[in-house]
Amino acid sequence: ALADFGVIGMAVMGRNLAFNVVDHGFDVAVWNREADLMRSAVAESEGRLTGTATYAEFVATLERPRRILMMIQAGKPVDMVLEALQPLLDEGDIVIDGGNSWFEDTRRREASLREVGIRFVGVGVSGGEEGARNGPALMPGGDVDAYERIRPVLEAIAAKTEHGDCVTHVGADGAGHFVKMVHNGIEYADMQFIAEAYDVLQRRLGMGPEELAATFKRWNKGPLSSFLVQITAQIFAKADPDGGWLVDRVLDKAGQKGTGRWTAQVALDLGVSIPSIAAAIDARVLSSMKSDRLRFAKVLKGPKVNADLGITVDDVEAALYAAKIGAYAQGMALIHAGAEEYGWSIDSEEIARIWTGGCIIRARFLETMMEAWRRNPNLANLMVDEKVSTELDERQAAWRRVVGSAVSAGIPVPGMAASLAYYDALRSARLPQNLVQAQRDAFGAHTYQKVNDPEGPFVHSEWL
Ligand code: 6PG
Repeated sequence: ALADFGVIGMAVMGRNLAFNVVDHGFDVAVWNREADLMRSAVAESEGRLTGTATYAEFVATLERPRRILMMIQAGKPVDMVLEALQPLLDEGDIVIDGGNSWFEDTRRREASLREVGIRFVGVGVSGGEEGARNGPALMPGGDVDAYERIRPVLEAIAAKTEHGDCVTHVGADGAGHFVKMVHNGIEYADMQFIAEAYDVLQRRLGMGPEELAATFKRWNKGPLSSFLVQITAQIFAKADPDGGWLVDRVLDKAGQKGTGRWTAQVALDLGVSIPSIAAAIDARVLSSMKSDRLRFAKVLKGPKVNADLGITVDDVEAALYAAKIGAYAQGMALIHAGAEEYGWSIDSEEIARIWTGGCIIRARFLETMMEAWRRNPNLANLMVDEKVSTELDERQAAWRRVVGSAVSAGIPVPGMAASLAYYDALRSARLPQNLVQAQRDAFGAHTYQKVNDPEGPFVHSEWL
């Protein structure tokens, strides 16, 4: 019998997804460039995966229309595999790219394969190795008809929550990879806020790893309940076999593979403000300048006065929650701008729903986000939802205390501060950019509009 589904790429993500598909009763054929990896996957599956030796054999093993998932490194390798595969495929076959591909690449590939009758679906896959094996969040973008054909497989393998399977048709062509990119931007911000909370708890409230573990464990039972808070508690609890705590042995230089950076690049291009996500990226960059920081620390002085604002652990919890809302609000605004620019019809409540399970940013807060867009599918910004705005208001005093306390002590909290500035800007009916406009007009005759005629003509004045 022919296989129902094919997987190319037997590195950990591809292998785990293939096992996940097989577990749900599908016959799966696999292929990998290095035969060793493939053989070990087939052996581990006890023959449930069908190994193939060449592309031709792989393709010939699959039921038509073929459904092929590529789990390979994003970028050039995807084009190379597509080039090798294309002549072997038939009209109507479906190729799925489950990597962290750049969404413009996905748009390009979808369009060029469409010309030869092959349907290309770009799927954002989140949840890491464990998610791939036991239930990831899936963000497919592409042709609706092609989605319907792969839907049974995707629904079977996706994470399940009380809100359903963590998969939905996100939109056309690159929509799925775009949404996955924004997911990662939010992931960066979420991680940064948690790191800042850790720094404040440690340096302002004197907590050590054991207390930190207990605090995050407790927070994970409340509104902050989330995968990242949960693993943070576990990380603090991990002892170093050589004594002390493992977290203290980790060098403070954060890496990144690019999806976070893309989020900021796209946001700049589309003119969407995502300060908290941008701050998280900058924070990783600054952290990576370790040798500079070691030298600069000898030159640059910290604060002489260090006002004790008397913050509590509960204040930090509130600040973390409020800051988090900022990143989700910004991420969703970026998704909306992307949808507008690229003609995707995106259902915001559905995006929140598929993120409730499987993915790295899964969190109780996503239910609040689902409700917000259910109340108003055209909600302009998450922060102005009635429930969310109340939650922000309830926390703003604590949020300001925490940011103020950290600033006063010279502890950088760029993420929490960026979310707070975002909130303050959004609620400012008047901002000082009248002066910026005046300056632009003064030095460059760039013209400006008048307060009493906001839709009116641009005028110029002789300022100097
Ligand atoms: C996920 C993750 C994953 C990503 C890593 C690494 O949703 O499962 O987002 O896709 O590759 O988190 O990202 P960085 O190396 O850029 O931190």
